[in-house]
Amino acid sequence: MTCRRYLSVMGLRLKRCKGMVAVLVLFGILIILRYRKSGELKTATKYNIYRTVFGEKTLPRATQAMIDNIAENLDIRFDVLDNFISGTKLEAGGNGNFLVRITITNRGQTPITAADWRIYCYFMRTVEAEHMPYPNGIEINNSGLKVHHVDGSLYYFRPIVGVFKDIQAKEERSFRFKLGGFCVSRTDLMPNWYIAAENVSARVIASTEGESLRYVGYFDTVNKFKRRPNDEYHPLSPEERFKLNSATIVDRDSILPVIPTPLEMKIVQTVSVHIIPEEWVILESSFFTEEVKMLSEVIGIPVGISKSGNRYIEFLKDDVIVTGSNGHANNHPEAYRLKVDPTKSIITIMASTSQGMFYGVQTLRSLMDHDWPHGRIPKITIKDAPRFEYRGLHIDVARNFHSKEQIQKIMGSMAMYKMNRLHLHLSDDEGWRLEIPGIHQLTSIGSKRCHDPAEERCLLPMLGSGPFDTSSGTGFYSVEDYKDILRFANKLHIEVIPEFDMPGHSRAAIVSMNVRGRHSTHNDQDYSITENYDRSVSFSGQSFRGNVINPCLSSTYRFVKKVISEVKELHKDIQPLQFYHFGGDEVASNPWEGSKSCQRMKSENSHLQTDYDLMKYFIKNVATLAADMNISIGAWEDALLEWRDDNFVPFPRKNFQNRDLYTYIWKRKSEMYSPHRAVLFANNGYKVVLAYGDHFYFDHPYEPDPEERGLYWAGRMITTEKTWGFTPEDVRENVSIPCPRAAGDESMCYNLQSPENIVGLQAALWSETVRTSEQMDYMLFPRLMAVAERAWHKAVWETTMDTASKSADWSSFANTIGHKELKRLDKLGIKYRIPLPGARIVDKKLEVNIEFPGLDVDYFDSEKKTWQPVRGLIPVKGPVALITRSPDGNRFSRKVVINA
Ligand SMILES: *[C@@H]1O[C@H](CO)[C@@H](O)[C@H](O)[C@H]1NC(C)=O
Ligand SMILES: *[C@@H]1O[C@H](CO)[C@@H](O)[C@H](O)[C@H]1NC(C)=O
Ligand SMILES: *[C@@H]1O[C@H](CO)[C@@H](O)[C@H](O)[C@H]1NC(C)=O
Ligand SMILES: *[C@@H]1O[C@H](CO)[C@@H](O)[C@H](O)[C@H]1NC(C)=O
Repeated sequence: MTCRRYLSVMGLRLKRCKGMVAVLVLFGILIILRYRKSGELKTATKYNIYRTVFGEKTLPRATQAMIDNIAENLDIRFDVLDNFISGTKLEAGGNGNFLVRITITNRGQTPITAADWRIYCYFMRTVEAEHMPYPNGIEINNSGLKVHHVDGSLYYFRPIVGVFKDIQAKEERSFRFKLGGFCVSRTDLMPNWYIAAENVSARVIASTEGESLRYVGYFDTVNKFKRRPNDEYHPLSPEERFKLNSATIVDRDSILPVIPTPLEMKIVQTVSVHIIPEEWVILESSFFTEEVKMLSEVIGIPVGISKSGNRYIEFLKDDVIVTGSNGHANNHPEAYRLKVDPTKSIITIMASTSQGMFYGVQTLRSLMDHDWPHGRIPKITIKDAPRFEYRGLHIDVARNFHSKEQIQKIMGSMAMYKMNRLHLHLSDDEGWRLEIPGIHQLTSIGSKRCHDPAEERCLLPMLGSGPFDTSSGTGFYSVEDYKDILRFANKLHIEVIPEFDMPGHSRAAIVSMNVRGRHSTHNDQDYSITENYDRSVSFSGQSFRGNVINPCLSSTYRFVKKVISEVKELHKDIQPLQFYHFGGDEVASNPWEGSKSCQRMKSENSHLQTDYDLMKYFIKNVATLAADMNISIGAWEDALLEWRDDNFVPFPRKNFQNRDLYTYIWKRKSEMYSPHRAVLFANNGYKVVLAYGDHFYFDHPYEPDPEERGLYWAGRMITTEKTWGFTPEDVRENVSIPCPRAAGDESMCYNLQSPENIVGLQAALWSETVRTSEQMDYMLFPRLMAVAERAWHKAVWETTMDTASKSADWSSFANTIGHKELKRLDKLGIKYRIPLPGARIVDKKLEVNIEFPGLDVDYFDSEKKTWQPVRGLIPVKGPVALITRSPDGNRFSRKVVINA
C-alpha cells in the first residue's frame, strides 16, 4: 500500500517505512510472547489480538432479572483434578500448582448472556501468578471468562465481551485452571459464591449456598487427596483406624474420677458414702461465698447449717503447701485439698484463694458425676495444684465472628477442666470485633463484611461470607457484651487476654481508618495508620495487599494508644487489664516500600534502615505505650525475632520496660530453629507459652481425610492422643546444636536456664474454616481436654519415657473420655467430634474398636434393614456400614464402610 509507493519514491520515506515495519514486527512478537507465556497461544483468537491493540469493548448492563436468574439457575461444581502437576513455585517452599475444574450448567429456561455481572468466589490458594497480572485479571482457558483477584481470598469471574458465548438453557460448560500449592480438603472451599453487578442487588448463587459445600466434588483419587506423590497421608480406612485406636478397654477402676489428673489422689474403696442431696447441706463460708453458691446451684444441695453434725460439705480457708519444680515448698494460690470422709459423712475442701477453691469445686463436681460402684463415693483424699500457671485457649473471632453466648459456653467447659486463660483474637484482615468508644468506624465498618466494592459501608466479603452483612463474617462485641464476657470470666477464674493483631493482619483496621480519614473534619483526632502509596508490592501469606500498619506515622501510635486505653477502660472494675497481646505475626515483606514517612525516618536515623529495624521500632513503641499503663504485653514468636549472626534471635528483653513479656511459640516443631526458640526466649527473660501448630492448632483436622474440617499446613492429623502425648520439656531436645552467639553470652545458648519462664500451653482455634458454633465445638472437643491434662498434670512417663506406662495412661484417659466426659459435654450442649469407628473383618467376622472406648458403634444390618449396636464379633457377608453414636444417642459420626 502507501508504504510500497514511498518505497519506490524517495529514500527518506523508505527509512521511515522500515521503522514502521520494524515496530509492527516487534509488536507482533510481543503479542506472541504475551500469549505464549500464559500458554494461551493456541486459543488466542483474533479478538485477543484486537483487544490487545484496541482494548476491550464494554459489556451491556446486567438487569436484576438477569442476576436473579443466574443466582437461581446457574449450577456450579468445583473439582480438584490433580495436585501432582508441577508448576511455578508460587507459595513459599515451592509447593507447585494444582489443577481444578469448574463446571457450570444453566438449569434455567433462558440463556445466560454476557453483561457486566461478576461472579464472586473465594480461594484460599492464589490463582497462579503467571495467570494473574494484577490488576487486569486473566482469561480462564476456554471459558470466555476472566478471573480477577480482589484481595485476600476474594476473586471474581466476569465475561469477556466478544469471547463469552451465551450459555444456553441446559448447557453444561467446564473449564480448568491452576492454583498455587495443593488442595486436599473440602473445607478449603468456601460457601456462598455470589453474583453482583453495578446498581442491582447481589445474590448468593444457590448451588453454592450453605454449610454442606456440596458444590465441591469428592476427593476420591490419590491425586486429589494427597498433596504430593510422596505424601505420607491418605484418608484412613476402617482397618487402618482399627490399628491406630490404641486405647485398650480398661476396667472400671482405671477410669479417672477427675481429669485433669490431680497431683496426688488416694482412694480407699472399702468405705464409701451415698450423697443424697435432700439430706446433705453445704455449710456457709464467709470467705468462699461465691463458690458455696455455685456448688449448691450445680449439684442441688442446699446451703445451710448441719443439724445432724454430719452429711455436709465444708469449705475451709487454709494454705496448701506444694513443692514446686524448683524444689521449694510454698503455698500455691491455685492449689486445693479435698477430702471425702465416708465414716463421718463429711466432705472438706481447703484452699487459700477462691481460685484454688473453685478448682476444688470442679473436682468435687467430677467426683459426683463419676460412676462409682453402687453409686457410693469412696474415701478420697486429694492434694492438687497445676503444673503450669498458663493453661490457655486462643479463639479467633476475627475471620468469622462467634457470639458472646458461644464464647461463654466454651469458657464454661474450659473452667470445668481448670483452664484459666482465654486469648481472644479480636482483629485481623477480615474483621475488627470489639467496639472501641471514640473510633466507631472500627466496628461500624470493620466488623461487617458485605458486597460494597468501594468499602464505604463494610469490608469486602471474604472466606465464604457472601454479599450480605448477616453472615458469620459480620459481628462484634459491644462494650456491654465484652463486659459480660469479662464478668463471666471472672466467675470462672479465667483471664481474658485481648489481642489486636498489628502491624500485619490489619486490613480491617486500615479500611476502617481510611473511611474515617475520608470523612473526617478537622475537629477529629487523626488516627491514620497508613499512607497513600502503592502497597500492592507487599503480598501477605493470606494474599492480602497492603494489610500492614505504617510504623513511621505518629498518628499510628495515637491510634494504638487509644485502643489500649479504651480496652483498659473496659476491663477496669471487672478484670483490670494486665496483659495486652498485639499479635505481630506474619508481616508481609517490603510493606513500607514507597512510604514517604518511612523514607524520611530512614534518612534521619541510621539505626532504622531495614524492615526489621522498623518492626522493632513499632514493637518498642507499642510496648512502651503499654508499659506506661502498667500493662504486660504478648506477641507471636515471629514478632519478636530479628536476623542476626545467621540466626533468628529474640529482641533483647532489656529493650522493654513491661513487667512481663510473653511470647507464643507456634511454628511447627520440625521447622528449623524452632524447638530452640522457646529456650532462647526463656533464657532471655521472656515468658514463653508453647502453642505449637502441630500439636495445638485445633483449626486443623483430626484425621487426614478430605471430609474433615480444617486447614492443614501445620499437620494433617492432630488427634487427641497426639496432643495428649505432647511433652513440654521437649523444648530442650537436641541441645547439642551449638550456641549461635559468640561464646560468653549464655542467654543465647540452648540450655534452658530459666525453666520457670516456660509458663504454659495454649491451644489455638483459628476460624477461617469455622463459621458456626457446631463447627467450633467439633474442632475443640475432645482435643481441648488433652491440652488441659498436659497443662495441669505432668505424667510420670514424660520423664521416664516408659512406653508401657504411657500407653496404660492413655488407655485410662481415653476410656475416661468415652465413658464419662463426653456425657458431661452432652449436658453442656457441646457438639464435640464423635470419632469414626475402626474395624476389621477376620474369618468373615466383623470386629470394631473406637478411639474412646465406652462409645457404642452401630452397624447396618442389611437383613433387618436397621442399625444395630455391635456386640462382640458379627458374622458378615458383604460390605458393612458403621457409625459411632454419642452417649446421649442424639448424634452420630460420619459413616464408614468396610468391605468384607
Ligand atoms: C486449555 O484448553 C485446551 C484445549 O481444550 C486444553 O488442551 C488445555 O489442557 C487446557 N488447559 C488447562 C490448564 O486446562
Ligand atoms: C448507578 O447508580 C448511581 C446512582 O443512581 C449512578 O450515579 C451511576 O451512574 C450508576 N452506575 C451505572 C454504571 O449506571
Ligand atoms: C501494676 O500492676 C501490678 C499487677 O497488676 C500491680 O501489682 C501494681 O500495683 C501496678 N502498679 C501501678 C503503679 O499501678
Ligand atoms: C532430635 O534428635 C532426634 C534423635 O536424633 C531426631 O530424631 C529428631 O528429629 C531431632 N529433632 C529435631 C527437632 O531436630
